[in-house]
Amino acid sequence: QPAPLICPSILAGDFARLGDEARAVEVAGADWLHLDVMDGHFVPNLTIGPDICRALRPLCGLTFDVHLMCAPADPWIEAFAEAGADVLSIHPEAGPHLHRSLRRIRQLGKKAGVVLNPATSVDVLDWVIEDLDLVLIMSVNPGFGGQGFIEGALKKIEAVRARLDAAGSSAVLQVDGGVKAENARACVDAGATALVAGTAVFKGGAGAYAANIAALKA
Ligand code: DX5
Ligand code: ZN
Repeated sequence: QPAPLICPSILAGDFARLGDEARAVEVAGADWLHLDVMDGHFVPNLTIGPDICRALRPLCGLTFDVHLMCAPADPWIEAFAEAGADVLSIHPEAGPHLHRSLRRIRQLGKKAGVVLNPATSVDVLDWVIEDLDLVLIMSVNPGFGGQGFIEGALKKIEAVRARLDAAGSSAVLQVDGGVKAENARACVDAGATALVAGTAVFKGGAGAYAANIAALKA
């Protein structure tokens, strides 16, 4: 198995020094930077707007992986595309026209992702499988960092892996929430190719980021 892409969630970084944190995880060997965008409506928290994404963009060369926890998501797709996002992932519950939204993301030249909440069925993927570049499986209920990994997510990773393979899709299969060195292997064994990690990367301060990322990759 190739090593998974490690995608530190900047949500777990020091918000007073976001630029330094984005740079530090890049130097420490991260593959992507995960930006958790929460609207206080779809999820019970407020976090990062497009202006923060735009401000970080010149400081960090990583792929900007924007996880939109916003309803509706559509108004934010263009805003984040324009602010420097590379990947835009949306929740099917956040809008009435998932297919249209995914098409829009690709039209803007960005990679399109679908996010499955813990209670969301994988069936929603069936008729958009050609229109997506990434599937993100939530292993916590979205809204906060630092929650415990929901073990049932492993079965869902396997189920999505089977569907992607059956469709001949090379979409990235990403897992988000409570991922740490102790469960990273189980996620990859189940078929994940990218791991989002907040707490597990940013714990211990900047001096620990490289070792934390290496532990997740191993
Ligand atoms: C949860 C977010 C996650 C979260 C990950 O709503 O989508 O990206 O910040 O943080 P940890 O790894 O601490 O669970
Ligand atoms: Zn996320």
